[in-house]
Amino acid sequence: MKSYKITLLPGDGIGPEITQVTHQILHLISKKFDFELKFKEMPFGGSAIESDGIPFPDKTLQECKNSDAVLLAAIGNPKYDKLPREKRPETGLLNLRSSLDLFANIRPVKIIPSLTKASSLKEEFVNKVDLVVVRELTSGIYFGEPKGRIKTETGERAFNTMTYTSEEIKRIAEIAFTLAKQRNKKVCSVDKANVLDVSQLWREETILISKKFKEIDLTHQYVDNAAMQLIRNPSQFDVILTSNLFGDILSDIAAMLTGSIGMLPSASLSKDGPGVFEPVHGSAPDIAGKNIANPIAMLLSAAMMLKIAFNETHAGNLLENAINEILNEGYRTSDLMSSGSGKKVSCSQMGELLTGKLK
Ligand code: IPM
Ligand code: MN
Repeated sequence: MKSYKITLLPGDGIGPEITQVTHQILHLISKKFDFELKFKEMPFGGSAIESDGIPFPDKTLQECKNSDAVLLAAIGNPKYDKLPREKRPETGLLNLRSSLDLFANIRPVKIIPSLTKASSLKEEFVNKVDLVVVRELTSGIYFGEPKGRIKTETGERAFNTMTYTSEEIKRIAEIAFTLAKQRNKKVCSVDKANVLDVSQLWREETILISKKFKEIDLTHQYVDNAAMQLIRNPSQFDVILTSNLFGDILSDIAAMLTGSIGMLPSASLSKDGPGVFEPVHGSAPDIAGKNIANPIAMLLSAAMMLKIAFNETHAGNLLENAINEILNEGYRTSDLMSSGSGKKVSCSQMGELLTGKLK
């Protein structure tokens, strides 16, 4: 029997609740499809600060490295905002990304027809949206050196560096073009080449890579325009290729097109090591422990894991279809209860409904 090792990182806030549902559903799917899933839960983020004093203990890194995939829920809590930067949960997340060399962050945004009313945009603008944000995840201004704060005569000066090498741009561009080949064959590269040197290089390298992908239509947008276009006419996009910071911002905008950030999964991939699969949303401390969180983004992340990391395509598709059916039947967690219609369910009830479908 095929067997896969998954490191589970429930993290903080709503993380443990949505992890519980996802764990239970994955277990059911593995039985149905006759493969084995070996789960190991490890401390990460704020909960690791509580248990081990740091957000990303070495034992957690070792476990992640020794697994076939990492499934992460969410991390963070405002109560850690006052800690020095290296002790904060977010720093743990950045270290996880760089330690596993997860340079390619894939964030698909696809409208679920029964949810178009939950979007803050009019239905006719969002009903054809089917795009993927390909975000570079281990370089750019998030990791660039020099960075820091220094005292000046009158106060302080703080600085970060936005940096990319040709190699870093080429490898993420290759991912975007390869993905576009299996989709609608369009890549829109987003930069700020009218102002930034780093973006000029980004654009030149992207154009060079596009010569290897003759069937792909490559366009370029400045990031301010891209933000506007995502609201004005989001269905023009197929694959959006962009850098770390721009991708962070644009993927939140794109997420909201679907009505709730609670719906969006992501995969962070390296060249050949284990990938990390996680919802785009955060730990939502305000609703933690109330059993009202939406587990769908994490469940869809688990579906991406089944397909991308384990090649269990049928299992991943079955999970996605079951989620669609439940939404079509009108079941909604509270974040999706726009316009007052729908049958409101809790996080664990969403899990029970799915269990019923998958049995
Ligand atoms: C994301 C998050 C992270 C980021 C934070 C939590 C460090 O916003 O994954 O989009 O900025 O990358
Ligand atoms: Mn973000």
